[in-house]
Amino acid sequence: MAGQEFAEGFRFPPGFLWGAATAAHQVEGDNRASDWWAAEESGRLPHRSGRACDHLRRYEADFDLARAFGHNAHRLSLEWSRLEPEPGVRDEAAFGHYERVLEALRARGLEPVVTLHHFTAPRWFAERGGWLAADALDRFAAHVDAVVERFGSQIRWWITVNEPTVLAKHGWVTGDWPPFVRGRWDLAFRVIHRLCTAHRRAYRCIHARVPDALVSFAHSIPWIEPCDPSRTLDRLAARLRTIFLVDWCFDRVRESGRRLLDYVAVNYYTRSIVRWRPRGRALLFGVDCHEPHHGPRLFDDLDQELWPEGLLQVLRRCARLGLPVLVTENGIATTDDGLRLAHLRGHLEALARALGEGVELRGYLHWSLMDNFEWAKGTTARFGLAATDFATLERRPRPAMRLLAEVARTGRLAPTGSEVTSA
Ligand code: FCB
Repeated sequence: MAGQEFAEGFRFPPGFLWGAATAAHQVEGDNRASDWWAAEESGRLPHRSGRACDHLRRYEADFDLARAFGHNAHRLSLEWSRLEPEPGVRDEAAFGHYERVLEALRARGLEPVVTLHHFTAPRWFAERGGWLAADALDRFAAHVDAVVERFGSQIRWWITVNEPTVLAKHGWVTGDWPPFVRGRWDLAFRVIHRLCTAHRRAYRCIHARVPDALVSFAHSIPWIEPCDPSRTLDRLAARLRTIFLVDWCFDRVRESGRRLLDYVAVNYYTRSIVRWRPRGRALLFGVDCHEPHHGPRLFDDLDQELWPEGLLQVLRRCARLGLPVLVTENGIATTDDGLRLAHLRGHLEALARALGEGVELRGYLHWSLMDNFEWAKGTTARFGLAATDFATLERRPRPAMRLLAEVARTGRLAPTGSEVTSA
């Protein structure tokens, strides 16, 4: 989508946040008190996270790397199961660890964007029924309160829960993630509702202690469009998918007529082209369409379509909520450096176009700093700006990391073809 408008390049606003996003279980390693670790040990998941990227011990070197490549922000999650390994028991060593992690970010000029719940929970929480248990919301609220009491003054950007719809879908519909329930959209929507309620309580808790905090939940927002726009039922399928998987969460975080959000945290990866199928489980949302009339489409190793234009569409749509927007995830699973560069370049252009149109975009956090433990896919899906050698744990910056560094350092997206791809 480059075109004429970037012939002179594009200038990003001063203070724009540039960085990468991570999640504790995917990078830290040895996340033993979590429900995911338990599920890995039980053999119900195909991979074990083990030491993952050993970020638990290597976080300073990782933050050095981020800084050396121009980042000024970093998204991380504080692992609930480390901080509260048993109900009501706060682990002071874990609090101390995250204290040092936040200090290490500050020392390197990296603005922390902190997630409180990124898919994993303490094992005890899952064993008591997880998000569907009667006291789930109270348990999470007590945890949030402890975190905010300790770290509140050090964190401006907060993400309460990560991707309610994705967690609910994998845990209660496709059943490939804990708690491995299949085909229960009814439970999935209860879980989404609970996560949105958990967000509202966390929002109020954070603001009670940190009035100027910026709080959101991270929402997975694909760009959804009908397979054949002239077919009413395809349009209906796309509409229903958008209502239930995108808009519903934005409605659930309302309280007394206002959304409890200070910004919109967008995780954007792909587009879904939807076709109506009037039978079976996909009734409500239609099915993904792969018909040839859409022309050649590029997919990554997880079969997600590379579609930068969709980020622009999603940003325009989010801007209609009347809030600033932060891209809290965007990335591609591939080992092909050319494809990764094309992906990054395309999405940077989408950011530039959105800003050019007046979207209040605050920053871009790429998923992820380095290849890491990609949930049920283990280390087979490579999302890193830096490649991780899982035998030696060495991180090797990829060309896309250099492109992002160039843009972050100069604040300028050079015209197509002139980007710097070597160190
Ligand atoms: C998102 C998750 C993140 C990572 C990326 C690839 O849905 O939030 O943890 O797995 O996908």
